[in-house]
Amino acid sequence: MTSSNSADQAFDSWAKDDRADGMENEHWPFVKQAFDLIPNNSGDYLEIGVGTGYAIRYMANHQFSRGRCFGLDISSEMAGLAKQRCQEFKNISIEHADFLARDFSDLQKFSLIFSMEVFYYFPDIQKGLDKASSLLQPGGQLWVLLDYYKENKITHDWPEKYQIPIRSWSMADYRNGFIDAGFSKVEQRQFIDAQNNISNPSDFGTLCTFGIKPE
Ligand SMILES: C[S@@+](CC[C@H](N)C(=O)[O-])C[C@H]1O[C@@H](n2cnc3c(N)ncnc32)[C@H](O)[C@@H]1O
Repeated sequence: MTSSNSADQAFDSWAKDDRADGMENEHWPFVKQAFDLIPNNSGDYLEIGVGTGYAIRYMANHQFSRGRCFGLDISSEMAGLAKQRCQEFKNISIEHADFLARDFSDLQKFSLIFSMEVFYYFPDIQKGLDKASSLLQPGGQLWVLLDYYKENKITHDWPEKYQIPIRSWSMADYRNGFIDAGFSKVEQRQFIDAQNNISNPSDFGTLCTFGIKPE
């Protein structure tokens, strides 16, 4: 067994090879299913852990084309790659930063915060949900998508396979975590890849949890 990497080290190396684009291609069909549920918005969008920046570019072109889009990533290489790929967008700004450590007092409250495959890297998932809640304006929404959760057996080998420390929460843990962070109207969906005809009984799909910060 090799020693484990921190998320920033691991994703620095992913950004330098074709795993960054592979990750984008794998995630997009599920992210798109969430984005199809999100209406147009003229406020500010925050994306935590942007990776290559594909999702923030979509939002800047579509639902948030009249708003501003902020993205951050703890990996300097991923943040650099996303910055490069988003440079023609005037309404996108990307930073190299740890979401849990970044002080957001210089920015207005967001109307929507989104992340795909990020929250389980946080040493304390509840802290991430609480912080996201504190950064939203009343009526703002948090959308958290992930494949690594207790019910999704197909991902149970990830700690061993990827050697990056990750935390396992169940669907109920995410739902309750949202409620404890003050969200109302908390809903969950499990997205499957409709294009993929070969179903795997261990694959329970991408878990999407979303909620609204009360007015
Ligand atoms: C599995 S990748 C997903 C990237 C992208 N969201 C996607 O859908 O392809 C997780 C990303 O989250 C970033 N990340 C992990 N912990 C973070 C933190 N505390 N703050 C900001 N980014 C973080 C990693 O560097 C990595 O780019």
